[in-house]
Amino acid sequence: MQPLWYRNAVIYAVDPAMFHDSNADGWGDLRGVTQRLDHLRGLGVTCLWLLPFYHSPFRDGGYDVTDHLGVDPRLGTLPDAVELLEAAEAYGIRVVLDLVVQHTSDQHRWFQEARADRDSPYRDYYIWSDEPRDDGLEPIFPTVEDGIWTWDETAGQYYRHVFYAHEPDLNFANPAVREEIRDIMRFWLRLGVSGFRTDAIPYMVHGAEAAEPGGGADLLREMREFVMLRQPEAVLLGEVDVPLDEYDDYFLDGDGLTMLLNFWMNNQVFLSLATGEAEPIHKALRDMPQPPRLGQYANWLRNHDELDLERLGEADRETVMDTFAPDETMRAYGRGIRRRLAPMLGGDERRIAAAHALLLSLPGAPVLQYGDEIGMGDDLSRNERLSVRVPMQWSSDENAGFSSAPPDRLVAGVVKDGPFAYDRVNVYDQQRRSGSLLARIGDMVRSRHGLTAIGFGRHSVIDTGRPSVVALRHEDDRDGIAVTLVNLGGEEVEVAIPDEDLHDLVDVLADAEYPPEEDDRPSLRLNGHGYRWLRPRNHIFK
Ligand code: NOJ
Repeated sequence: MQPLWYRNAVIYAVDPAMFHDSNADGWGDLRGVTQRLDHLRGLGVTCLWLLPFYHSPFRDGGYDVTDHLGVDPRLGTLPDAVELLEAAEAYGIRVVLDLVVQHTSDQHRWFQEARADRDSPYRDYYIWSDEPRDDGLEPIFPTVEDGIWTWDETAGQYYRHVFYAHEPDLNFANPAVREEIRDIMRFWLRLGVSGFRTDAIPYMVHGAEAAEPGGGADLLREMREFVMLRQPEAVLLGEVDVPLDEYDDYFLDGDGLTMLLNFWMNNQVFLSLATGEAEPIHKALRDMPQPPRLGQYANWLRNHDELDLERLGEADRETVMDTFAPDETMRAYGRGIRRRLAPMLGGDERRIAAAHALLLSLPGAPVLQYGDEIGMGDDLSRNERLSVRVPMQWSSDENAGFSSAPPDRLVAGVVKDGPFAYDRVNVYDQQRRSGSLLARIGDMVRSRHGLTAIGFGRHSVIDTGRPSVVALRHEDDRDGIAVTLVNLGGEEVEVAIPDEDLHDLVDVLADAEYPPEEDDRPSLRLNGHGYRWLRPRNHIFK
């Protein structure tokens, strides 16, 4: 048993439709993921977050579910899911699935029955009203939907949807809906998953709270308890984009969500990357509540959605937008950026590597986005967030080695032009090139496994006097001390470490070979966009 495995997990997010097509129908599928687990294993990831593969019309990338207990035929079968879980287990890789139960697709049988008959037991699975009401919520995709209530002719009422109109909200005041959620969790836990990335949690909490004050916390406690009683190692990894002072309402001292996707930190990271200043990250680390012992943060750079900058103030948001999305086509929903990491950083491998060194040195579990380990680009000709959901680039073969279907049958076109085209950026090439981005990120991941204080320990910001350097001290009784330095600026800098017990440090991992310092000044050199992870000398050489 490794009950606290998640404190130091390295998570890798895969959109199964985009990863690898095993049967030449143009769609990536679960067998394709199974066939490519060796890539994850090689990289050193310990947990696969598998994005939705359930039955779905795929009008929201599979987050519009019509049956949570089955696999969409384009992505495979239930036995394929079981085979994937078994193969991952053999590799020591845990699997976390998306639990998308804030809403369903309007094509879901529940909604179809609900709208057809006021007396159906499914009517109360959703939220209805004779008139649009003010529930204190705004549409999440404001440039696409102008309201959260849509009239349904068959039902003769309005239904609520905070996301797309084709995604009606479920009603958490209804015990039968909560029972359905438990059924879904039970089913997948039995098949061997290590938990769930729980979608849109604040809206679920809002729904439960509207029914009864305190109901939101009850819902989270109920879900956590249900999961822990069945699979003590399983986690609830919550999508919780809320202000910092609300984090504790979701952790609930270890009784609520196991992990929070840390949107706050994500926004500060991009402000730091945009300005070259470490302070936003340092401040976030000082302000963030310590997660409970049975809890953890999950950090990431980019995900499958837009880079939503809502946690920044107006001026800071403008700075990040102007730096990374100067063109209107790079923006989405009036608030975010629909680009992948590599194009945002100008395709500069040094900067992409430094960003990953930063991610992997933040307290919490890092989440890597498929394809970012090789610096893949995006496709701005695709709508909204689809721009970042492009097929994985395995090789310079036709269709990037993603699929052997005719190109016009692919789920999404491969990136074939420009600096991120698959003949320039692919796994096969980078696997054979020492010093490639893939090699560097793999080295970081494997080194990180040895630096368990980053996930388990206490953290403090080291005052180096260098504004461009994110400098952190991680400390844990069992693992000892680790120091992580990342230079966000392009210029070489000399970094002073004032802590008395850190005067004699040696590299564990670095962007380059740094010659030993010549005098006994406790200072360290860092290349432009350089990074160094260090240990006290006596930790390595006794
Ligand atoms: C969050 C998911 O990450 C996003 O892709 C989806 O559109 C919404 N939740 C709705 O499920």
